[in-house]
Amino acid sequence: MSKGSVTIVGTGIKAVSQITLEAARYIEQADLVLYLVADPLSAEWICQTNSNAASLQKHYKEGRPRLASYQAMVDEVMQAATSGAKVCVAFYGHPGIFVYPSHEIIRRAKEDGIAAQMLAGISADACLFADLGLDPARYGCASFEATDFLIHERIFDSRSALILWQVGVIGDLTFKGGGYNNSTNIAALITRLKLHYPLDHPVIIYEAAQYPICDPRIEHAQLDGLISHKLTAISTLYIRPTGRAVASRTVLKQLGMESRDGSPNI
Ligand SMILES: C[S@@+](CC[C@H](N)C(=O)[O-])C[C@H]1O[C@@H](n2cnc3c(N)ncnc32)[C@H](O)[C@@H]1O
Repeated sequence: MSKGSVTIVGTGIKAVSQITLEAARYIEQADLVLYLVADPLSAEWICQTNSNAASLQKHYKEGRPRLASYQAMVDEVMQAATSGAKVCVAFYGHPGIFVYPSHEIIRRAKEDGIAAQMLAGISADACLFADLGLDPARYGCASFEATDFLIHERIFDSRSALILWQVGVIGDLTFKGGGYNNSTNIAALITRLKLHYPLDHPVIIYEAAQYPICDPRIEHAQLDGLISHKLTAISTLYIRPTGRAVASRTVLKQLGMESRDGSPNI
């Protein structure tokens, strides 16, 4: 029996309009498409483009650890590829950004000698940079998964922008179809952030538009008031830099970037 293959694609954040031409071609030409998308329009588009398509959503069960659901998704994909099918797996956003199963599928496929590749897609932070007019080149930008940020006490520079993903599900590793209520965990996040920012520091709750006719949710808040704002499973938290970093004279000199008066020659 010939070996199958796996191509993992992203469908973007804004329904259908952010699917790349490359991803669309793989979806169209696959023997089987397995998908996990965040809106019904994308699901409908996939099913219209390839009649042999099925959702991976069924692996989520109320209260079940998400990791167990992800393992079940990986198993389903690997079973199809091992049986010789040319499988296309579609995840919303960029398929390799904050998506455990996609990387695990690639790892398992390589282990089993099955051809596997991942194509880039449009992620939530790509939309955030556009909607908030933020260029990460300006002050730098750190990005963390919110629970990971808290439990590992991640080190970051508050003079750079900070993006926290999955802030609405912080500290909860299970699936909850009806939404998450984790104000105690948000309070823990605020306590941590207060070590680095003033209480009235501006933050933005960001949700990129999921449909072409909709606006993004860009809700301004202060750090200490964050707890009273609605955070959902698709909320991303953006925290502004605290101030300008001062260039190091020593390093400027090393790089030959110091002007005569000692100021940075940039
Ligand atoms: C499992 S990750 C998936 C990310 C996705 N693969 C991507 O490329 O953007 C889910 C997290 O992505 C972010 N996210 C997903 N959809 C979003 C949206 N419409 N607006 C802002 N952030 C979003 C949120 O932080 C959410 O908790």
